[in-house]
Amino acid sequence: MKKVLVARPTFPDVIERLKQYFDVDANLGDVLSQDEFARRLADRDGAFTAGEWVGEKELAGAPNLKVVANMAVGYNNFDMHAFDAHKVLGTNTPNVLNETTADFGWALMMAAARRVTESEHYLRAGKWQKWSFDSFLGTDVYGSTLGVIGMGRIGQALARRAAGFGMRVMYHNRSRVAPEIETELNAEYASKEDLLKRADHVVLVVPYSKESHHTIGAAELALMKPSATLTNIARGGIVDDAALIVALREKRIAAAGIDVFEGEPNFNRDFLALNNVVLTPHIASATESTRRAMANLAADNLIAGLGEGPRAGNPPNPINPDVLKK
Ligand code: GLV
Repeated sequence: MKKVLVARPTFPDVIERLKQYFDVDANLGDVLSQDEFARRLADRDGAFTAGEWVGEKELAGAPNLKVVANMAVGYNNFDMHAFDAHKVLGTNTPNVLNETTADFGWALMMAAARRVTESEHYLRAGKWQKWSFDSFLGTDVYGSTLGVIGMGRIGQALARRAAGFGMRVMYHNRSRVAPEIETELNAEYASKEDLLKRADHVVLVVPYSKESHHTIGAAELALMKPSATLTNIARGGIVDDAALIVALREKRIAAAGIDVFEGEPNFNRDFLALNNVVLTPHIASATESTRRAMANLAADNLIAGLGEGPRAGNPPNPINPDVLKK
């Protein structure tokens, strides 16, 4: 039997599925230290990860490794050059999380614009004495302009929601999407600068890479309207968190909704002193059915990638399919 490591806890029935095909070392405890992860990976043929860093050192130390299946659509925890060099297949879990993640982006944007968590904290703290005309005035979402940075599958799902809110949609992406998609979404392509100047609600959905590092920093925040909101459901590092904290503190933008952080879970604690930011712990894809779908898809990739099951040799989501050739 081939040997696999499940690097952090996942749904027990998914582990049972893997046990039908493999000798499974399942970590049921805390997130492994990088050294412990590398140690347990060393004799494995495959691994199921959810954010563990897999780079040159880890791959060089695991000579039998053939497949690493990430339970996430983003795979910036994989050094794909090292994967190619070691002929290891990386896989991810696209599509199954699109709508759930777009729902959550929408929820964060709405909560930031309409000051939902800030006003709830006020109520819970027993501060609510009277109704007042100027309590917690927010920014309208209906009829405003949505700016989507990163018009992939999740960005498009967000833009689709905008139609129900009578919003104009602007987007920025490395390349323009097909004209029929622009027409369907009623979305206008714009430079990043133009979008930041004109959008009322900016939502970030770009994958993390060296190129997208700090897509939003002090200079970009300075372009935004003082009434605008910024929502990050992409990855920590897409936003310069320290610059965002300054912009929020100085009310250079109205509010932010942040699900992903630089250095998470050790995020910049200065966020906690701010009322005008909604903070959530990387949960945009977190519904029971979507997380199950992601875990099962990661398992499908691992099973097929290691030559087992109904799709043996043909995993659904190869990131570097060239390593499967010959
Ligand atoms: C979650 O952040 C994912 O990339 O799926």
